[in-house]
Amino acid sequence: MAPSTKSILGGRTGARTLATENSIIRGAVFASGNGSNAENIIRFAQNNPGEISIPLVICDQPEAGVIDRAKKLGVPCFVVPGTRATRDEQEKKILDILAAHGVTWVFLAGYMRILSASFLAHFPQRVVNIHPSLLPEFPGKDSYRRAYDAGVKASGVTLHFVDEGVDTGPVIAQRKFERVPGESFEDFRARGLALEYEVYTVFLKELCHGGRDQDRNRIQNSGQASGKMG
Ligand code: GRF
Repeated sequence: MAPSTKSILGGRTGARTLATENSIIRGAVFASGNGSNAENIIRFAQNNPGEISIPLVICDQPEAGVIDRAKKLGVPCFVVPGTRATRDEQEKKILDILAAHGVTWVFLAGYMRILSASFLAHFPQRVVNIHPSLLPEFPGKDSYRRAYDAGVKASGVTLHFVDEGVDTGPVIAQRKFERVPGESFEDFRARGLALEYEVYTVFLKELCHGGRDQDRNRIQNSGQASGKMG
């Protein structure tokens, strides 16, 4: 069954809100690694130019594959490295870049840093992350690996709004997949990744159709139940 984010987004599918009428979504993609999710998001935007634009990618790893992917897709990639000790400084640089490009949404796609509460306050309910497990199971790093090694019979992916915790924000949508007996880790992970692209794409479609001014209570009270699709 295809995932739906309709009720998460306040049931506004098909109706643009006043705040966003005549404007398109300007989203920055944040990534730290290979960048296949980033590419999926950029391609979606390039196929829906009147609805959404990805003016830039932010990357914190100078050697990351996403840098080359962004270049091939014609999207500027800003590399802004940082350590835990320099997070404020790094976030300030990033905020300046986002402001200069009129960014209103942030799409995390394999971005391996925790954003501060003060950063998130600039984009209330507008920072989204894809996580490779059925949260709250296997939060944090290497989730496919840990799920696979734990011998789970099924795993999945979660799209969620980001709060200052580690993979704790309100769930937008989840998709589950069954483990195939005897399958390799690579196959297990590949099936998860394919679902990540699908879930992000469904969310972006819903977003483009007008459900942008989310209400936190609606998300938390009614959204979670309908967002958790098998
Ligand atoms: C994805 O599995 C994502 O969910 C996780 O890191 C991986 C990034 O893959 N946080 P890619 O860089 O998008 O290919």
